[in-house]
Amino acid sequence: DWTPQSFVEETVEALQAQIGDDKVVLGLSGGVDSSVAAILLHKAIGKNLYCIFVNNGLLRKNEFESVLTQYEGMGLNVKGVDASARFLEALAGVSDPELKRKAIGRVFIEVFDDEAHQIEDVKWLAQGTIYPDVIESVSATGGPSATIKSHHNVGGLPDFMKLKIVEPLRALFKDEVRRVGASMDMDEGILGRHPFPGPGLAIRILGDITAEKVRVLQEVDAIFINNLKVWNLYDKVWQAGAILLPVNSVGVMGDERTYEKCVALRAVESTDGMTADWVNLPYEFLQNTSNEIINKVKGVNRVVYDISSKPPATIEWE
Ligand code: XMP
Repeated sequence: DWTPQSFVEETVEALQAQIGDDKVVLGLSGGVDSSVAAILLHKAIGKNLYCIFVNNGLLRKNEFESVLTQYEGMGLNVKGVDASARFLEALAGVSDPELKRKAIGRVFIEVFDDEAHQIEDVKWLAQGTIYPDVIESVSATGGPSATIKSHHNVGGLPDFMKLKIVEPLRALFKDEVRRVGASMDMDEGILGRHPFPGPGLAIRILGDITAEKVRVLQEVDAIFINNLKVWNLYDKVWQAGAILLPVNSVGVMGDERTYEKCVALRAVESTDGMTADWVNLPYEFLQNTSNEIINKVKGVNRVVYDISSKPPATIEWE
């Protein structure tokens, strides 16, 4: 019978036999899969696991700092690399969603390759690939592994991709990954985290991306997600986030008419991201959240709630 405990025991032994005293590099994304893969590998080979956590500047508000601290607290040998400026530069003036994804994938590979080169004599690349990633071309859960896979045919192979691959979660479904993580006493905050796309907020800012737009969307998103937690709705939702729309609409403040940004809130129920239903969030929740966003986030004067399901709409707006 499959149990998370027996999986951990057997996998740790198998990893030790496979890897021996070699060094392994792994890209952490903050998501469930790469985090569980890291903890398993850490159990097996300890300090020979070198984790790299790249800040692409498109993460949720404070996510880089808080997740990095959490990883360090778990004893991982992790290096945080803040490459925000490099990503923003590559994205300047880019509005096409697929070009955004390509630019982000390319810069990620460059940054990761630079970092991997600094690990002397590294032999393996570990990835948090799970079974659904194996059977689909694009990971629904995002993260570095998805980015790498969908971009490895751009130009020559970066050096780190010539490393031997180790994927300890390859046979598992998401719920099994969570159970494996829980059996290793991993934090609920990491295991219960909503999926977040690899390109991050870049694909939730419709049109071109600027540092200011990222900041505005981070503020809006943080209020929405925090309120979901406060109202005990976070765990009932599969994925949620805010989208910055490329339209201004008229509003009024005092005697003045304003002409400011509109944001959409999106929350869906799903099992695998292939189909999804919008979540019937309570009106009071939406009302409070909308008021808080408009009162606190300068430059936003209108909030709408997305009530489309997938198909035919998708979860993301681009
Ligand atoms: P859609 O919008 O296709 O999203 O309904 C389905 C799931 O996939 C995520 N998603 C991505 N994840 N890179 C990723 O790593 C991407 O480019 C990407 N696009 C969408 C989305 O967040 C949802 O969970």
